[in-house]
Amino acid sequence: MNKALIIKRTAKYVESTLSGEHTGHDWWHIYRVWQNAKHIGRHEKVNMFVVELAALLHDIADWKLHGTSHKTGPEIAANWLKKNGVDAATIKHVSAIMHDMTYRGPKAQAKELSREGQVVQDADRLEAMGAIGIARVFAFGPVIKQPIHVPGLKPHLYATAHQYRRKYTGQAKNKREQGSSINHFYEKLLLLKDLMNTPSGKKLAAHRHQYMLDYLREFFQEWDGRK
Ligand code: ADP
Ligand code: NI
Repeated sequence: MNKALIIKRTAKYVESTLSGEHTGHDWWHIYRVWQNAKHIGRHEKVNMFVVELAALLHDIADWKLHGTSHKTGPEIAANWLKKNGVDAATIKHVSAIMHDMTYRGPKAQAKELSREGQVVQDADRLEAMGAIGIARVFAFGPVIKQPIHVPGLKPHLYATAHQYRRKYTGQAKNKREQGSSINHFYEKLLLLKDLMNTPSGKKLAAHRHQYMLDYLREFFQEWDGRK
């Protein structure tokens, strides 16, 4: 098994599958998660082949956008890896990571992850933080017809994965459920730093977290004409 070649082919496959995806899971998101995962993985004792494959394939079919199943993505990934002669144990590990790492809303129970899974999850979570995270929030807001900011509208901790998905697909039941992009910082992005798994992930997250706080302070000052 030529691991380097399989990774290269997988990257090409993901790139061509996700071109034309504009909800925040385009190829460049995958590329950045892949780079983050390599960065974090270097400091951890992990199987980098599994880490790289899971990072590349993790959003191949997002459950929030592809009906209700958490299984579609892992299945597509498993088929692809099988076709490329990857061994069964690696395939099983990669699909398990994909199945278990996705965020299901702030109140949903988090799944136990392997060390490799923890690295990939950290790499993906970093993507929603810092300068890139800020760009992604405001790129995603209009997809679900969500305003930038609504003064007085309180952040809302989505009680169920179902409710979270409804909002995510632009089918929010009311204004409160729809929310705003600024509220998304309080509903998710500022909670991420405490969910990081690995020491290097935590360090990177702390920096990105502070950057978002600085950004929000500026934002509210500008909103009220104070700056
Ligand atoms: P993941 O890749 O972890 O599954 P999501 O699919 O939840 O992440 O989100 C993709 C990107 O879109 C993230 O950067 C996230 O912050 C942003 N996003 C998700 N939901 C909202 C929302 N309601 N408002 C603004 N941005 C959002
Ligand atoms: Ni992702």
